[in-house]
Amino acid sequence: MHLPEAAAGARILGIGSVQPEQIVTNADLEKRVATDDAWIRSRVGIAERRIADAETSLPDMAIEAGKAALKDAGFDPAELDAVLVATCTMPNPIPNAAAQVATRLGAGGVAAFDLNAACAGFCYALGVAADMIRAGSARHVLVIGAEKLSDWIDWDDRSTCIIFADAAGAALVGPATVDAEVGVGPVSWGSDGDNFTLIRVLPETTNKLHQEGQAVFRWATTAVAPIALDAIARAGLTPADVDVLIPHQANLRIVEAIAKKLRRHGAREDMVVADDIVHSGNTSSASIPMALDHMRAAGRVRSGDVVLLVGFGAGLSYAGQVVVCP
Ligand code: UT7
Repeated sequence: MHLPEAAAGARILGIGSVQPEQIVTNADLEKRVATDDAWIRSRVGIAERRIADAETSLPDMAIEAGKAALKDAGFDPAELDAVLVATCTMPNPIPNAAAQVATRLGAGGVAAFDLNAACAGFCYALGVAADMIRAGSARHVLVIGAEKLSDWIDWDDRSTCIIFADAAGAALVGPATVDAEVGVGPVSWGSDGDNFTLIRVLPETTNKLHQEGQAVFRWATTAVAPIALDAIARAGLTPADVDVLIPHQANLRIVEAIAKKLRRHGAREDMVVADDIVHSGNTSSASIPMALDHMRAAGRVRSGDVVLLVGFGAGLSYAGQVVVCP
């Protein structure tokens, strides 16, 4: 028996994201359901979101985000070893998205699989990719979070149609040969299957997404900060070391509550906190890599910054890790 050569760890080499062109504003939704701009902004923090047209598939968005991450890293797709697509919104469970995404990207034949941990999916997939690289079963892995939530929304349900949106975000992950280069920290992850009914598609009635908003809100504002603190500790850091906080963009009030708790544990007042939800809505597994991409483009995150990622959602499932921005 012989094991392949392992790496010291993994690091992110490039990032990218894509959103559909069509913008749906709160005023647009007021025409369809009994809601208003002020309620949505104050309760959720969303001003507008992007919704894909019928011709644009989930794999289409995944490919565009993947291409952008490869371009950012200047990396040839033929050199990839694996493609992971984190998603919970494929129109059908068979086949997966990842195999066609890999082939259409020019990486046909590589290991390719989907991973469903809902809104925690990107952090789960990044954890798996980093461990694959560390163990020596892959050297370069493309991790994509892609969702077409609009297919699963009841557009007459005001409690969900104002929240969710479509997008894809991606990161190219590669080996770090020495400890000083490691740029993806150990993942802190887990689940709470007792609460599987809180966010789910209802096959027996609408076949659309339903969530118990208040219960999920309470869980997210209490359970997520300890996961984030655990991810910091596992990386051998303290909250004061975190330059940028990117929680899953579920609700701006949840994001602010997590930031407040971290500051109570020593995070800096000048820690930059993601607010990508304002113009993107809740895009589940795409929200974290897309926020990182948008914030870097806007100059709010710089290369070398210590960035704390934490995802949480249906399952219930959660995961977080510290990364270094490429
Ligand atoms: O991404 C996966 C993880 N998901 C989350 O983290 C979501 C967590 N939950 C939330 O973000 C929030 O619970 C929601 C945004 C879903 C809802 O906000 P809320 O402040 O918890 O509102 P609520 O459900 O307590 O509803 C308050 C009121 C209700 O009216 P009554 O019963 O008090 O008369 C709702 O019917 O607001 C009403 N309402 C609305 N009003 C205007 C619910 N949706 C709307 C709406 N526009 N779109």
